[in-house]
Amino acid sequence: MNLLNDYPLLCPIDARPLHPEGRQLVCAAGHSFDLAKQGYVNLLPVQNKKSKSPGDSKAMVDARRAFLHTGAYDPIAAGLTKQVRALWSEERGELCVLDAGCGEGFYLGALAEALGGSESRANVKLLGVDISKPAVVAAAKKYKEIAWVVGSNHQTLVPDGSQDVVLCLFGFPCFEVFSRALKSGGKVLLADAGPDHLIELRELIYPSVRRKPLPSMAGAESLGFELVASQRLRYSIRLRSQAAISDLMLMTPHFFKAGREGRQAVAGLTQLAVTVDVSFRVLSAPH
Ligand SMILES: C[S@@+](CC[C@H](N)C(=O)[O-])C[C@H]1O[C@@H](n2cnc3c(N)ncnc32)[C@H](O)[C@@H]1O
Ligand SMILES: [Zn+2]
Repeated sequence: MNLLNDYPLLCPIDARPLHPEGRQLVCAAGHSFDLAKQGYVNLLPVQNKKSKSPGDSKAMVDARRAFLHTGAYDPIAAGLTKQVRALWSEERGELCVLDAGCGEGFYLGALAEALGGSESRANVKLLGVDISKPAVVAAAKKYKEIAWVVGSNHQTLVPDGSQDVVLCLFGFPCFEVFSRALKSGGKVLLADAGPDHLIELRELIYPSVRRKPLPSMAGAESLGFELVASQRLRYSIRLRSQAAISDLMLMTPHFFKAGREGRQAVAGLTQLAVTVDVSFRVLSAPH
């Protein structure tokens, strides 16, 4: 049984509802999308692709999965889960969560696990969307209890007013789309790298380090979103292998930005202590 047969998704071409028909999802106008054997559907129209393989590459996806499964970011997953639970207990009833730019599924997987025990899973609908096909394939293979879609944050893939929470974790928010997807009073939960995130690694690879401010919420606020909570999570981790250090490099933009010299500076390292500095922000949707 494919979860996607049950999930209310919209045709990416004309926004009509999609219905299961055999191994496909089909809209009333006859547009059809194959359900992949791994359990995801690709709703990214070819004309929306800016490149042949948009989003993170398979190498980046593999590096992110290997790094995340060392446990180094478990406190981020725990922080996130706690915040979603808090939003849910306010709302009660059904909980629909859309992870926009879900990567290889680590955080939505952690959320599914955390929600799996105490509350009735029948009331929980989790959907992960990413523009990277290798990311969604990896997610679908590992986390069977979640619906997965290849698509863009710029597309309207779910019915208006259907989501309680939209997650956008270290990603690329599109607040116009999020606003339509959310129920009245629904929330966007953002995670972004804070100014000190991985500062020790950045100091090694760049001649001078710029402490970037958090992305501004002015655009979201101009659409009527209201910033209702913000929290900072800061801790230190010690990476104990060359593999962990190079996975961390590869899963971030630093690998490409660093240049040859920067990459060489970390190539021989087998240990590195780094600061994790993450900002969580919760925005309430316009009513
Ligand atoms: C830094 S990664 C974060 C992945 C995941 N949220 C995590 O924290 O592990 C950014 C993700 O955004 C995806 N992405 C980039 N542009 C996107 C878009 N327009 N719509 C959806 N996903 C996108 C990439 O493929 C990548 O998986
Ligand atoms: Zn259609």
